[in-house]
Amino acid sequence: MPATAVAPKQPAELLTGFPPGPKGRFLIGCLLECRRDLLGFLTGCARDYGDVAFFRFMHIPVFVLSNPDDIERVLITESAKFVKSRDYRALAGILGDGLLTSEGEAWRRERRLMQPAFHRENILRYARVMVNHSERAISQWRDGETFDVHEQMMRLTLEIVAECLFGADIRSHSGSVGEALHVVMEGFADYARLAMVVPRWLALPRTSKMGQAVRRLDAALYGIIRERRAAGKIASSEATYVASGAGPNGVGRQRSGGSDGLPPDLLGLLLQAADESGGTMDDRQVRDEAMTLFLAGHETTALALSWTWYFLGQHPDVAAKLACELDEVLAGRTPTPEDLPRLRYTDMVLKESMRIYPPAWAIGREAREPFQAGRFLVRPGTNIFISQWITHRDPRFFPDPERFDPERWRDDPIRRGVLPRFAYFPFGGGPRVCIGAGFAQMEAGLILATIAQRFLLELVPGQSIPLLPSVTLRPRHGIRMRARERTRRKSTVDSPRATSPAAP
Ligand code: HEM
Repeated sequence: MPATAVAPKQPAELLTGFPPGPKGRFLIGCLLECRRDLLGFLTGCARDYGDVAFFRFMHIPVFVLSNPDDIERVLITESAKFVKSRDYRALAGILGDGLLTSEGEAWRRERRLMQPAFHRENILRYARVMVNHSERAISQWRDGETFDVHEQMMRLTLEIVAECLFGADIRSHSGSVGEALHVVMEGFADYARLAMVVPRWLALPRTSKMGQAVRRLDAALYGIIRERRAAGKIASSEATYVASGAGPNGVGRQRSGGSDGLPPDLLGLLLQAADESGGTMDDRQVRDEAMTLFLAGHETTALALSWTWYFLGQHPDVAAKLACELDEVLAGRTPTPEDLPRLRYTDMVLKESMRIYPPAWAIGREAREPFQAGRFLVRPGTNIFISQWITHRDPRFFPDPERFDPERWRDDPIRRGVLPRFAYFPFGGGPRVCIGAGFAQMEAGLILATIAQRFLLELVPGQSIPLLPSVTLRPRHGIRMRARERTRRKSTVDSPRATSPAAP
């Protein structure tokens, strides 16, 4: 054979055994390792055993896939071979059969019904709600005051999603809803973990605090749904909206919306959503979707912002550059969605923060058909674990991965093909990509721009900020920060105060 000839590539033989991975213990598999340090354990799996690693969680076989090409196949090209993993299914005890937890034809129908509510022209309407709540929140802040920034962001994004979902109707129920929601949020992760290994009815006893809170929330949600249906105001206010459309920034034409002058809320859009055959959602379905959006729609965005403040606190140079961009583009004005494309650095900061601390840090699937991962056969019934935490920190794609550097995102390396599409996927991908991604990106951008124009947040020195990887990636004990009021440009921006970094 001439020296230059290339031998035809033989297809690699498909291996039916398990890929390499930590051995674990009899019966419990790697349960103890997962409980001790879940993130460290999973990172170690990928580092020590490669792109396709394997372990058992109790009796459940789990493949850990960390190569962007495999991730793309699971989420997009071969997504039909998978359903969501059993931990998602466990959430159905609380969320019902909403978009996040449903499967098959039911999911397809729900997604078709709900997608229009998240079209750009519909979500633009909520920009004003987002900015108004942010301004109201910071109007309470005083120069030098310290607080838990995660608590602040949770409250803010909850108020926003509540108003976007239910409009003014939530106010009459806000006391009971707020308290019940707090209990549900607190218990959500523990419940999900428990419900993976015991039947749902056992994990959510109707007498427990959590069960009672879910019932109280249900009572409020069904109450609002019935009032709406009885008032019959949805269709008419909506019709006005569809006919008039939102203005270019969704703000200017809101007055032409509902009879009360407020923009129609997501609940209104859900109540009037109809599929091609005219089918609509019954009360139970609307409740499940509303509960899903309520819970899925605020903690993740709050976390994206909390971690961003944390990084800005550690990197005063980045905070100064961000403030500079805001001063240049907004010059003290309230931000609108039209400003966001020009706030490029603001976007890069948010992207980089979600790279290092992805709010949704893992995606689970269960194979329903055979699937090939690397050279290994994944059998039906096997769990697939894909983690933004692992892949976003892969040094092959992000050199010096733990370094917070928004410059990585200059000129969109994914669009230029410098990075593989699924090296970075904070919102998932494929048919089950986050339906709220556009909403969340607009919300995070507007909140960050509104607040960072007025305040610099410094980390209170001497605190440790351990992570709590539950359904989302939380700061276990919050993040204490000190608010410093900015004076535009010169004084604060040109000489940012140094902060003592606190390590997670
Ligand atoms: C920074 C904020 C957010 C992040 C990082 C995030 C992340 C994700 C991810 C990774 C998924 C895919 C899960 C999977 O494939 O198994 C997802 C799905 C979903 N998200 Fe988000 N999300 C965010 C904000 C929101 C918001 C604001 C809403 C609603 C208002 C929302 C509602 C949903 C729903 C309903 C699904 C299920 C979609 C389906 O299966 O069809 N999310 N999200």
